[in-house]
Amino acid sequence: MKVVAFNGSARKDGNTAVLLRQVLKVLESEGFEVELIQLAGEQIRGCTACRACFKNKDQKCIIENDNVNNYIQKMAEADGIILGSPTYFAMMSPELKALIDRAGYVARAQPDLLKHKVGAAVVAVRRAGGIPTFDAINNFFLINQMIVPGSSYWNIGIGNKKGEVEADEEGIKTMKDLGRNMAWLIKKLKR
Ligand SMILES: Cc1cc2nc3c(=O)[nH]c(=O)nc-3n(C[C@H](O)[C@H](O)[C@H](O)COP(=O)(O)O)c2cc1C
Repeated sequence: MKVVAFNGSARKDGNTAVLLRQVLKVLESEGFEVELIQLAGEQIRGCTACRACFKNKDQKCIIENDNVNNYIQKMAEADGIILGSPTYFAMMSPELKALIDRAGYVARAQPDLLKHKVGAAVVAVRRAGGIPTFDAINNFFLINQMIVPGSSYWNIGIGNKKGEVEADEEGIKTMKDLGRNMAWLIKKLKR
């Protein structure tokens, strides 16, 4: 059983990474193989709307000069996908949005690519705008017929400077509960 997590932050090993690692740690202790991919520093452009993915139906984006096809492959092979982002002007980061748009269109081109996988959004926020970010990420899972488990709160951690989110006790607890709920759900689905 595999879970892959993407950190859409432009800042490597920041608050989003702290939150994602909390979820992954629980999943690992439940016997899952986990991977954290950080998009910081990568040049990922958005979808060009060329629709080649609909024509070719090869599970690939036609843009080949970045890691997106590798990431789509990782999503296709995983039982669970976690998409993490900081809040930037009340929305996800452009890096994560570019990945969602391109992976999402490829997945729409062959509608069962992500069907019945488990998805979770994880968001870091300084003050406000976390909920629209959380909702927007969840829309990616829902339109792909994925299943989204809840936690003991919405999956948001509060912090600004690198690592500050560690002091958000409820946020950290929410991530641990999310990890447990993801593990529970994936195990049920695999039975
Ligand atoms: C360009 C930019 C826009 C931001 N917009 C918001 C915002 O709308 N609301 C908010 O509460 N924090 C905002 N922040 C703060 C980040 O969401 C916050 O510092 C978060 O913890 C960063 O996560 P990271 O360490 O994973 O990058 C913004 C930060 C940046 C760089």
